[in-house]
Amino acid sequence: MAAMDDLTREGLAAALAFQSNAGVDLALDDAPHDRFAEFARPEPARPQPRAAFPAPTNGEPPTHVAPAPVSKAPARAPNAALAADIAAVAASAQAQAAQARDFEDLRARLEAFDGCALKNTATQLVFEDGARGAQVMFVGEAPGAEEDREGRPFVGRAGQLLDRMLASIGLDRSLVYIANIVPWRPPGNRTPTPQEAVACLPFIKRQIELCAPEILICLGAPSMQALLPVKDGILKSRGKWLQVPIGAREVPAMAMLHPAYLLRQPLQKRLAWRDLRALKRVLDGERPRMHDAP
Ligand code: URA
Repeated sequence: MAAMDDLTREGLAAALAFQSNAGVDLALDDAPHDRFAEFARPEPARPQPRAAFPAPTNGEPPTHVAPAPVSKAPARAPNAALAADIAAVAASAQAQAAQARDFEDLRARLEAFDGCALKNTATQLVFEDGARGAQVMFVGEAPGAEEDREGRPFVGRAGQLLDRMLASIGLDRSLVYIANIVPWRPPGNRTPTPQEAVACLPFIKRQIELCAPEILICLGAPSMQALLPVKDGILKSRGKWLQVPIGAREVPAMAMLHPAYLLRQPLQKRLAWRDLRALKRVLDGERPRMHDAP
């Protein structure tokens, strides 16, 4: 690949257009960093410990240095170190979220939380929209560019489709509560990494507890995988009612196809329509037919 310095004006414009089309819309540094390679790199050699009691030398240079004791404990593999870091962040998120007394307190704790690096690249926290305490809560994946600018979830094209989906069963944003698994925009709208999702999970779980909805709807696979006891993919699991614990209650929950996916695959709207009608029937008083968790 040509170095950037060798590119003509047109070549540079084409390289920029290529990156933009791939979803890159933010420059974080002048040089690229291979973060995967960083995790794969072996840990740097540690200095050997000195002998605890060196033999007296009477001022002469030592002729014999005792070999450093061989440590019996295995060195922590890079993956183990990463897992330990993730666990520490998750524990700190859990402690913070559990202490949140109400929505404002939860929001303030998220604003102060430094365990998710997405906060450094996002414009602002995208916390919620709709009515706190609504009968139905929708949980999406993560904010996109529009949401990042406005500070409200689902206000871009996918959000406009969500509004039309709600309207089709007589709902609007004053009747539902909306949030995301991850409240900061991932650069280029990429899917949040498992680490990012794990760091934010205790906060969205507390947000669901505070909203205390009677029905929980997960929009898309990442939300479904984070919140529902499912093993299969979204196309197989969508539309199935499952019980999930929210606070002290068991609440019916269902995964639906994400509106951003429906924009790309409009033929799948018929499945979304089926799920919306199932939601409407339960809102009208029908008992949801529960599926067993896998
Ligand atoms: N997609 C989501 O999952 N959430 C938003 O807020 C916007 C788009």
